[in-house]
Amino acid sequence: KILDIKLIDLPKFLDRRGNLSFVEEFKQVPFKIKRSYWIYDVPGGEARGGHAYKENEEFIIALSGSFNVVLDNGNEKKIFHLNRSYYGLYIPHGLWREMNNFSTNSLALVLASTPYNSEDYIFDYLTFKEYYHEKE
Ligand code: TYD
Repeated sequence: KILDIKLIDLPKFLDRRGNLSFVEEFKQVPFKIKRSYWIYDVPGGEARGGHAYKENEEFIIALSGSFNVVLDNGNEKKIFHLNRSYYGLYIPHGLWREMNNFSTNSLALVLASTPYNSEDYIFDYLTFKEYYHEKE
C-alpha cells in the first residue's frame, strides 16, 4: 500500500573523523534482512527496476550520490529523491517501482526481505495495474 511507504531518518553519529550511520533488522528496517544488493556504475539517463514484487519488501539507501525512486500503486505515483546516506526508504510489496535520475558515481544499497526469486517479479505494467492496483 502506498500509505505504508516510509522515509526513515537513520541514526547518525557526526564526528570530525567522519560520520557513521547504521541500520538493524526489525528496528530501522521493519523486516528480517534476507538479501542485500547494490546498484552502481549506472550510465547517465538509465533507469533500473521497472517492476513490482508480489511479496518482497525493500529498504533503499543512497550510500553515495543521489537518485529518484518512483513508486506507483496503479493509480497514484510518489517520487522520492534520495540524496543522503542517512535516509532509508521502506517500500512495501505490491508497488510498481522504478529508479532513475542517478547521479555520477551514485551507489544504491537495497536490503530485501526475501531471497532472490524471479517468480516474485511482475514485469508487465498492465498486468500489475490489472491485478494489483489499489482501489481507493
Ligand atoms: P533486476 O532485478 O531485473 O534488476 P533491476 O530491476 O534493478 O533493473 O536484476 C537484474 C539481474 O540480476 C537479473 O537477471 C537477476 C539478477 N539478480 C540476482 O541474481 N539476484 C538479485 O538479488 C537481484 C536483485 C538480481
